Amino acid sequence: QQYTAAIEAASPSGREQVEAFRIQYLGTKGIVKSLMGSMKDIQPDQRKAAGQALNEFKKLAEAKLESLQDANESAGEDDQKFDLSLPGDFVGVGTRHPLSIVRGRIVSIFKKLGFAIAEGPDIEDDWHNFGAMNLPEDHPARDMQDTFYISQNPSWLLRTHTSSVQARVMESQKPPIRVICPGRVYRNETISARAHCFFHQVEGLYIAENVSFADLKQTLYFFVQEMFGKEVKVRFRPSYFPFTEPSAEMDISCLICEGKGCNVCKHTGWVEILGSGMVHPNVLENFGIDSNKYTGFAFGMGVERITQLKYRVNDLRLYSQNDIRFLQQFTGAV
Ligand code: PHE
Repeated sequence: QQYTAAIEAASPSGREQVEAFRIQYLGTKGIVKSLMGSMKDIQPDQRKAAGQALNEFKKLAEAKLESLQDANESAGEDDQKFDLSLPGDFVGVGTRHPLSIVRGRIVSIFKKLGFAIAEGPDIEDDWHNFGAMNLPEDHPARDMQDTFYISQNPSWLLRTHTSSVQARVMESQKPPIRVICPGRVYRNETISARAHCFFHQVEGLYIAENVSFADLKQTLYFFVQEMFGKEVKVRFRPSYFPFTEPSAEMDISCLICEGKGCNVCKHTGWVEILGSGMVHPNVLENFGIDSNKYTGFAFGMGVERITQLKYRVNDLRLYSQNDIRFLQQFTGAV
């Protein structure tokens, strides 16, 4: 009776414990065998009943062992339960986001030219985003970039360009400086096919002795050819930025309509892809960089626009809607 209760209560799990159970009860030196050995000590008139009881007990032990072994097998411990020839389940692999793909290409092109990557905070103070960039308070050019201010503390804002990162680099490094600053920027604009309240930039900065506008042009020509191919036409237009003088915007021939006329190039055949110029002496002096000794160029481009031209994306909102039909078109692109 004692052993019967013990068997019923036993719950070994795993191959080893089940085997230990077998040895304990049904092994050659196990309990069943030793009880059988003690039959000879039982009074002859009680032997029949004892024999039957022992038989019941043995069956119980065997049944328990069998059920333990079954349970153990279905718990998957036994490899032979698996049919390795069955076809596997499909595990979908995601695609890289087009903006990540293009940012990666831009970065690797400038890396070839020796530019290092710099990053900085999305939430900035007025100085790094505007003041240091030669936009003092009340400068009308601040209106060019509709700014989101942090309501709890309006001296903080969401950076409107990654020039703020360039400011942080100039703050902490001495020339020669050669960095690109990829990152997300924010502007308070109504969301449409052509505008969004956030987008992504890659800005570049090169400061050393004798850096000229010719270096700027050559660098950007190289970038365009690597990015879009040798056939693409390029033009510079004079422009204005408070932090560069002289300033220029760069256009490339429209890759969407190839000159036939479309909404992206507004039927001009040209699309603006970046702003650039020679770093304004005030900006250099703001960081204690001697503007008589050093000169530099800077440029800034929107990743969305480059991606639009590269992949013919006709609506900025597609980038952030997570529509799988859009994203799947970039399968395999790296
Ligand atoms: N910071 C400018 C912008 O966001 C781009 C730019 C960078 C222009 C560097 C000139 C030089 O619009």
